[in-house]
Formats: sequence, C-alpha cells, structure tokens
Amino acid sequence: MESGQGIETVSLAHKKIILGVTGGIAAYKAAELCRLLVKAGAIVHVAMTDAAQQFVTPLTFQALSGRPVLTSLWDAASGDGMAHIHLSRDADLILVAPASADFLARLAHGRADDLLATLCLARACKLAVAPAMNREMWAAAATARNLEQLRADGVDVLGPAAGEQACGETGLGRMLEPAEILAALPGLLGAGPLAGRRVLVTAGPTFEAIDPVRGLTNRSSGKMGYAIAQAAAEAGATVCLVSGPTCLAVPPGVRRVDVESAADMRDAVLRELPSEVFIAVAAVADYRPDAAAAQKIKKSEAGLTLNLVANPDILAEVAALPEPPFSVGFAAETEQLAAHAEAKRLKKKLPLLVGNLAQDTLGRDSAELVLFDERGSHPLARADKLTQARRLIRHLATLLN
Ligand code: C5P
Repeated sequence: MESGQGIETVSLAHKKIILGVTGGIAAYKAAELCRLLVKAGAIVHVAMTDAAQQFVTPLTFQALSGRPVLTSLWDAASGDGMAHIHLSRDADLILVAPASADFLARLAHGRADDLLATLCLARACKLAVAPAMNREMWAAAATARNLEQLRADGVDVLGPAAGEQACGETGLGRMLEPAEILAALPGLLGAGPLAGRRVLVTAGPTFEAIDPVRGLTNRSSGKMGYAIAQAAAEAGATVCLVSGPTCLAVPPGVRRVDVESAADMRDAVLRELPSEVFIAVAAVADYRPDAAAAQKIKKSEAGLTLNLVANPDILAEVAALPEPPFSVGFAAETEQLAAHAEAKRLKKKLPLLVGNLAQDTLGRDSAELVLFDERGSHPLARADKLTQARRLIRHLATLLN
C-alpha cells in the first residue's frame, strides 16, 4: 500500500496491542509500525526478543509507544511475578512483526523460553504474525510445517511479500509494509464496518475450453477483484474469493476457491451461498463452445467454425434468488458509461453497480470508477485499485448498515 492511502481511516481506538519484535533486519520497520499503531489510537506495549535488540534498541520503541519495553522474562517478576500473564490476558491482540523463522518455530512448538514466547503461550487473545526472512528460509520445509501448524492453531499470518531482500536476493520473505499490516488489523479484531458479515467475491477471467490446449477467455488480471476481497477482509468480513485463472497471491485472511470456466464459477458461487454480500467482479465469458473437443483440433486450411452457446449470468441469477444477498455488479463499458451502467443496474436488479471505462482500467494498476446506486452516481477519482476497493467497501458498508 502506498503510504498515506487509506491509513488515515484505520481506527484502533482503545485496542490494547502487544507488539512483539523478533530478530531480523525488518525490526527497523517495526518502529514505523509502532508509530502507526499509536497514531491509530491503540495502546501499545512492545516486547522484544534478545535478537531484536541487536537490530534496534528498546529506547526507540519506548519513545514511540510511550511505555517501557518488555525485554526479559525475569524483569516480569515484579509485583506478583505474573506480569506476563496479566499483560497478554487483557490484550486484544499480540502482533509479532517481524516474526523470524526461529520465532515461528518456537511458537509452533509452544515454547516459552523467553518473554515474548511466554506472552504468546499465555495469551487469551488473538495472535497475528508478519513473517520476515530470507527466501530460502521461507521456502524451507520446516518453515512451511511450522506455518501450517500455526494456522491450524488459529494464528493469523500476514504476508510475507515478494521483493528485494536485505540479503540482496529477491523473492518471497519480505515483511509486509507497516501500512499494509496496519490495514489488516481492524478486520482481524472484528472492528471493521463489515465485522461479522460474509462477503462472496468473484474475480479474474473465466476460461472456456475449445479443446485440451485451446480456449476462449477475457482480458482480466483479477487485480480489482482481489483488491476488493482484501478491502472486505480488512473491513472485518469473512471473505470467500471465487477466482478464475490469475497469477495473483491470495490476500491475507481471504479464502480462495479456484475455478476455470463460467459453469464452474456459477457452481462454486451457489455452493458458497448464503452470504450477506455478493460482489461480481469476474470478467465472465459470455459464451462458450457448445462442446469442448476431447482431442486437439487439427489445423486446417479450411478454417474453423465454432458454435458458441451463452454462459449462465451468475450475477443475474444470484440477484434474482428469493432472498438475494446485497449484490454488486461491475460494468466495463467502452462508451456512454452512465447510460449503459444505470441500464445494467436496473436490468439485473442491483442495489449497487460499479462502472468504469474498459480502456482506462484493463490490466492497469489504477482505475477511475463511478458508483451507481438508488441515490444516483458517485464518481471515485482515479487511484490505485486497492484505494478504490476500500472506497467501494466503505460506500457499500454505509448502504448495508
Ligand atoms: O452483463 P455484463 O457482462 O456486462 O455484466 C457485468 C457484470 O455481471 C459483472 O459484475 C460480472 O461479474 C457479472 N457477470 C456474471 N456472469 C456472467 C456475465 C457477467 O456474473 N455470465
């Protein structure tokens, strides 16, 4: 997330957060994260492992959080000697960022060999980790095993991202940016405007097979749908993303169901209902070959005629259910956006439709959108797709609530 975009709207007022910092170069980014948490209104207690203190001093976090930093299990023996228990008992969240490979291993095994690990084991609150490590360490079988165990134990895993690493290599393992971690927290804490709601999103293109090696598809990167799924999860919703073929990573906290054809997408959507909100972002192919050939069709000078039949209109079908979810459609037009979009909204009986000019948006990272609802049209000035997705979700939440 670009700094400044969307962060100003994150509120963590009165949330008590223990920020755990472990030993990795990304510990320097935890200082910025600490600042953002405090700015969002959270009451922040920082706990550092010994290794983390090799990278950043406790004084930095003390100044940013306005509280003494917890560094040793044995310091915690003040008062009744149970400070570590009390602290994690009345916290809303323990957030470990960065979480090193070693810390994840200790956590997965339920170790309590330093203050931070003990806080995590003694907690009665949510625990989220933002891993940061070299790409080989991230790819190691042991790390994957530990992550799987942590997820099974209910730990939320934020990231990591791909990109250039401090070691000079490039790959998966970078800690998410502090602003991205911050944006995920209201959702984790059930504090967002869609808390407790189920949101179903379709995204990406569909692929309609002609034969085993060829097919018909649409030009869609899936970026907008994935950004919307992410924004809905950030807003506290339980999100299922039914996705056609894309090369995008699943956003944090989102469950993805992979599909290929429009028919698969329709079946998956109907299986995932009921849901309070349905947002159809997928560029569903309107037609498919009437039958896919079992073997590769041989090239011929005579040309080839395909017989196409109409695909089901997933959005129209869902919006016409006896008790439909709040259904949102997309209209990518090449001209007369307002007229076409409003006509489509009325025809498909949608409370909200998002319009854009296809030539402005396809494959790009930014979009200029117009929202159409019963009260009229609401333009959203050009911005990156995640910012637009967050604006759309805010608008949708006000209509719903
Ligand atoms: O009718 P049109 O394709 O222009 O409508 C676009 C909207 O309808 C999008 O929200 C798209 O996801 C949805 N749609 C669908 N199933 C189809 C075609 C479109 O859900 N077969």
